Amino acid sequence: MILYFSGTGNTFAVAKAIAEKTGDELFDMGKAYREGRFEVSVDQGATLGFAFPTHRWSTPPLVDEFVQRLKFVTSDGEPYAPAYCFTVETYGHFPGTESKFLAKLLWKYQGLKVDAAFAVQSVGNCLYLFNTPSDDIVMRKLEVAGKTAERVAGLVAARHVGDYVAANPLGAALSVGTGHEGKKRSVKVYNVLADKCVGCGTCAAVCPTNTIRMVDGLPMWEGDHCTECLRCLHYCPHNASQHGKVTEGRRRYLNPALG
Ligand SMILES: Cc1cc2nc3c(=O)[nH]c(=O)nc-3n(C[C@H](O)[C@H](O)[C@H](O)COP(=O)(O)O)c2cc1C
Ligand code: SF4
Ligand code: SF4
Repeated sequence: MILYFSGTGNTFAVAKAIAEKTGDELFDMGKAYREGRFEVSVDQGATLGFAFPTHRWSTPPLVDEFVQRLKFVTSDGEPYAPAYCFTVETYGHFPGTESKFLAKLLWKYQGLKVDAAFAVQSVGNCLYLFNTPSDDIVMRKLEVAGKTAERVAGLVAARHVGDYVAANPLGAALSVGTGHEGKKRSVKVYNVLADKCVGCGTCAAVCPTNTIRMVDGLPMWEGDHCTECLRCLHYCPHNASQHGKVTEGRRRYLNPALG
């Protein structure tokens, strides 16, 4: 079973590549979170994987909460004991210590020991920091990401043990120094350009945390469960939803694996 969370499809593409190689089932934590489902049926002894995007050199809050609330259901009623447990993160620039943070959460809340940690560089989707690269660069980055995902899939299939996340001192410093581990994300910065918004409700429909409510045909962001996946920006067909002012005019991005 591979539990994944994906904002714009990069992590989904990697989880899918691994599942195709290993024959493991995929479980969408974003969909389950939105529906308030935290039970996952598993086969004793099967491989267990967690796939997530790096956010602020940490894990997305949705993943943190999911790991805390997750309840494994086994056919024999005994506590779940996977034969092999791995994590895989996708990132845009460089990784930090987020896989170690997730390993700590898995141990603390589920008593699970992680056997291997992997990372795959993909297209950066943090639109309030960077614009989406040109189509050519996106294609090249996805080609490389696809090859890395294949390599990781081979290692998972062979149940390799170890930390395969390339250590990056700056990433490690940012993971600790910026203090985002396990912290809520604010929704104050989200806004909509009323003259561009057609009130289609796509942003609200794709939000995994039910953070968006349509009021008089316009989205409103509320509450403290936003996981900052930026789906509400990237899925908007009219580039109307924004994070502050800087995202106006920046190109939206969705991984082609989403179909
Ligand atoms: C809010 C936010 C924060 C991010 N922080 C980082 C980061 O700290 N380091 C990094 O390399 N990439 C960062 N990224 C880029 C994503 O990790 C990367 O694009 C990832 O592949 C997205 O996966 P997804 O399509 O499954 O959501 C960030 C993206 C978002 C939306
Ligand atoms: S997806 Fe875009 S156009 Fe549709 S309601 Fe949301 S902001 Fe408006
Ligand atoms: S409000 Fe936007 S960024 Fe926050 S969880 Fe929902 S879709 Fe993701």
